[in-house]
Amino acid sequence: MSDLDAYKKKSNTTGTQWITLWMSVKRILKYQPVAILESGTGSSTMVLAACVKKLKAENSDYNGRVTSMESVAAWHAIASENLPEKYREHVEIILGPREKFEMGFFRGYVHSNIPKRNYGFVLLDAPAFDDDHGLSFCADVFKIMDFVTHPTIHGVVDGRASSVFVLQTLYGPSAARYYHSLFAASFSIPKIDFRDPKNNTPKDWLCTPLGRLVYRKFRSLHG
Ligand SMILES: C[S@@+](CC[C@H](N)C(=O)[O-])C[C@H]1O[C@@H](n2cnc3c(N)ncnc32)[C@H](O)[C@@H]1O
Repeated sequence: MSDLDAYKKKSNTTGTQWITLWMSVKRILKYQPVAILESGTGSSTMVLAACVKKLKAENSDYNGRVTSMESVAAWHAIASENLPEKYREHVEIILGPREKFEMGFFRGYVHSNIPKRNYGFVLLDAPAFDDDHGLSFCADVFKIMDFVTHPTIHGVVDGRASSVFVLQTLYGPSAARYYHSLFAASFSIPKIDFRDPKNNTPKDWLCTPLGRLVYRKFRSLHG
């Protein structure tokens, strides 16, 4: 708490909701991912690093680290300066200006320069996802599917309803439930190559009796 208070005084970062931090801590302590990706550096970076510290204190073989992506140079400089010394050995803050991302019938934005590490957990809290065409979504969780080898990626989304909408459309609502009281969602989703043409089959769609189309292709993959 004192670290978060001190950080707030040095940076007027938007911060992350408590519920998001709580969900992230729970998942990281449970799944103990070695590579943690944070999309959007800030006070949350310390919380992720504190999880790594705790896991390492409990098990010296655990060598987790946080890769924290920041898309805006000014915020990257502020965040790099403000991260307390005690967390630095567990965190790498990387500048990755946002870039477009296309996948199937969605368009979004990702951080450029994400190092190719085997991420098992993602905190999705950036980059900006609106532009001249309107609202898109934050897509880092899909970008890393190009190189992550884990069958399942765990994560949490802060706010960003459009990102949760994409997760729900592809994997079903139970994959990432979102409530207005929380404005956050946690997820555990299988890695899939959505660009693989072999994934386009006549059985992709379901028509409900009332005429609603549901993209059902990958719903059964989420338990
Ligand atoms: C929701 S913020 C990320 C917050 C971060 N996870 C934290 O806990 O502090 C998303 C992005 O907005 C930008 N940003 C940070 N602080 C900001 C501020 N005070 N005003 C506007 N943009 C900000 C940064 O580029 C950041 O990555």
